[in-house]
Amino acid sequence: MVFARLSAIVSIALAASQLAQAGLTKRVTCASGQTTANAACCALFPIVDFIQTNLFDGGECGEEAHSALRLAFHDAIGFSIHGGKGGGADGSILAFNQTETAFHANGGIDDITDRQFDVWQNTTLTAGDFVHLAAAIGTGNCPGAPRLQFAFGRPPPKAPAPDLTVPEPTDSVTAILARFADAGFSTPEVVALLASHTIAAADVVDPTIPGTPFDSTVGTFDTQVFLEVLLKGTLFPGNGSQSGEVLSPIHGEMRLQSDFAISQDARTACLWQGFINNQNLMMSQFKAAMAKLQVLGQKNLIDCSDVVPVPATFPGPIKFPASFSQKDVQVACHQSAFPSLATVAGPAPTLAPVPGS
Ligand code: HEM
Ligand SMILES: *[C@@H]1O[C@H](CO)[C@@H](O)[C@H](O)[C@H]1NC(C)=O
Ligand SMILES: *[C@@H]1O[C@H](CO)[C@@H](O)[C@H](O)[C@H]1NC(C)=O
Ligand SMILES: *[C@@H]1O[C@H](CO)[C@@H](O)[C@H](O)[C@H]1NC(C)=O
Repeated sequence: MVFARLSAIVSIALAASQLAQAGLTKRVTCASGQTTANAACCALFPIVDFIQTNLFDGGECGEEAHSALRLAFHDAIGFSIHGGKGGGADGSILAFNQTETAFHANGGIDDITDRQFDVWQNTTLTAGDFVHLAAAIGTGNCPGAPRLQFAFGRPPPKAPAPDLTVPEPTDSVTAILARFADAGFSTPEVVALLASHTIAAADVVDPTIPGTPFDSTVGTFDTQVFLEVLLKGTLFPGNGSQSGEVLSPIHGEMRLQSDFAISQDARTACLWQGFINNQNLMMSQFKAAMAKLQVLGQKNLIDCSDVVPVPATFPGPIKFPASFSQKDVQVACHQSAFPSLATVAGPAPTLAPVPGS
């Protein structure tokens, strides 16, 4: 009796685990020999190769990769959970580029749409699928990045997004959090999305210093930006101080007024500090928030995440840039201990601008 019941339980458990296995391992083999979860995704493999070759110089984490991520954000954030602020992650920024590139917050975006436009025209993708696939690929070219998801099947965008949906570096923390909340994002999700600024540089905030990076490792998707925004020193406003620039104590580095304000605000300071040298936390929370961002306003998409190339890992740990240490940190979170970090050897660095900016 007891045995019969036990074996029944065992066989139910076995059947359940086989089902789960089948769900995980269900594969389609494409004509190319590549495998994916859904036959509809097969068409994407050659497009991924085309984008890598023609947009990202074979797989670089350079200006085009950084820009592709920024473009995906500026496209998707044209959305409100209350309606009336655009179609979200629909590619409108590329298809209606003449309208959206004119918005103040989209300064410099015309370089990106211009570059992506011809490449897009040579694919069969809608503007939305192109913008968000390019962002997943480009981000993944940066070592340390999570492998972003890709959902396939956005219809062509209906109209440009209206102006004033994209946050500006001169906005207050309250205004920034409110705009993100209007698009459906919580405060922790906003801070996680700002991990993007670890592969970022500014061209138009201060046009006298194009390509100025936001951290000392602009080609690596690490947590360095969360550390370096907190460094105090001889801070002085540059020529872009009216447009949201606060020069960093690291020569050749810029920090955005908004990033600094978010790093110091009571609502966000501990979330910000919590990402420092916590690569796994940053990767998982950035990945989850990006998955949400890249499908805003969309429905009935097919999960084609397995066409996205797997990024190289970042071994860590991060370090203070040479000559900096704990005494230089403007700590704003007092509830948890600041992580203990070594310092890179040598003299204080001077960062080079990102080429191609
Ligand atoms: C508080 C919200 C944000 C503000 C105020 C902001 C502002 C800016 C500004 C002013 C620049 C420099 C533009 C230039 O002068 O060329 C920039 C660059 C960038 N931003 Fe943000 N950003 C925000 C959030 C985000 C988010 C959520 C993402 C992506 C998920 C993102 C991704 C990027 C990237 C990748 C770049 C670098 C582009 C390049 O190097 O070509 N930003 N951001
Ligand atoms: C904008 O879109 C038009 C087509 O509508 C295209 O010809 C042009 O190259 C695009 N320009 C930029 C800056 O993306
Ligand atoms: C794509 O198509 C355009 C014409 O629309 C062409 O000028 C361009 O060179 C093509 N190739 C690539 C790699 O973008
Ligand atoms: C501001 O602009 C001037 C003239 O273009 C330039 O010489 C100077 O280096 C800039 N200052 C900063 C802090 O970037």
